[in-house]
Amino acid sequence: MVKRSRVLGCGTYLPANVVTNRDLEQRVDTTDEWIVQRTGILSRHIAAEGEKTSDLAIAAATRALEHAGVPASSIDCIILATTSPDNTFPATATKVQAALGTTGFAMDIQAVCAGFVYALSVADNFIRCGQAKRALVIGAETFSRLLDWNDRTTCVLFGDGAGAVVLEGYDAKGDSGDRGVLSTHLHSDGNQYDLLYVDGGASSTGTIGHVRMQGQEIFRHAVSKLSAVVEEALAANGLEPSDIDWMVPHQANRRIIDGLARKMKLAPEKVVLTVDHHGNTSAASIPLALGEAVADGRVKRGDLILMEAIGGGLTWGSALIRW
Ligand code: ACO
Repeated sequence: MVKRSRVLGCGTYLPANVVTNRDLEQRVDTTDEWIVQRTGILSRHIAAEGEKTSDLAIAAATRALEHAGVPASSIDCIILATTSPDNTFPATATKVQAALGTTGFAMDIQAVCAGFVYALSVADNFIRCGQAKRALVIGAETFSRLLDWNDRTTCVLFGDGAGAVVLEGYDAKGDSGDRGVLSTHLHSDGNQYDLLYVDGGASSTGTIGHVRMQGQEIFRHAVSKLSAVVEEALAANGLEPSDIDWMVPHQANRRIIDGLARKMKLAPEKVVLTVDHHGNTSAASIPLALGEAVADGRVKRGDLILMEAIGGGLTWGSALIRW
């Protein structure tokens, strides 16, 4: 018997305001054709003025609790992945805790686009070691606030949103047929810090800064690092790519996702794609995509789900979950 965390439910929230590529044509020197061809993005949701990351997180977490059918008071751990916190401190997770009325502890995780996989890993480890019983894992971003809306190379790529899952510890058999998180695999390489960063911060400029990115370099790292971390996850569980029912990837760019799926010889219909209507929502993109595939009935009990993500740092990781 081993302790594992299984998923009791999930929920999502997207701001009402949808910004299309045509809308962006009015703002910067770009075209719908360029954006679609290079990224696969058609539109993204952008938070309204005054709508904060905590608001998105609370909405997604409330839906996840409803879906799980458990009260907020039974949650003893909130791990919230975000790059766009309400304030530098306290952690946005504590605001979510107060709004929902959960017990125990709450904290933020910062691993940019890999944030959800990192947060899932942290929560899973707390559960496995017995320090938490029921956890809310949230990815929430108002990433639009970090964008330079005059920089066409970055502002067309991102969007806002939030997704959440409820995890619960249980005694499992200890093989790859178990439900829940089978394993998580995290990596970072700080030597690549300058490939993707914001040019500000509390201890450097005193501003929040704007996203700066060497897009082609990120692209190059993405496919090789993601395929390695996916292989690592499969090998750790004695599984093959053909065992995967759903790949729920970080939604940065359609070409990165397609490239990885091709490398893994995964049929395109097994890949959950939301990048076309969400853009890149950073730490929120995986739980948003998962929530969509669960809500429309694609993901069924017992299905094997592969998650993978890469982001600034560089940080990257993967997770295998049996639904
Ligand atoms: N509209 C029109 N033209 C543009 C735009 C735009 N929005 N942005 C850049 N261009 C121009 C460039 O200025 C350049 O023009 P030039 O040839 O006259 O100099 C030309 O398009 C080609 O630019 P590249 O940067 O070479 O374009 P590329 O094909 O590499 O595509 C992209 C850029 C989409 C960013 C790509 O590199 C990419 O997907 N990289 C991955 C980065 C990523 O996904 N980042 C997300 C955050 S990290 C993560 O989540 C994984």
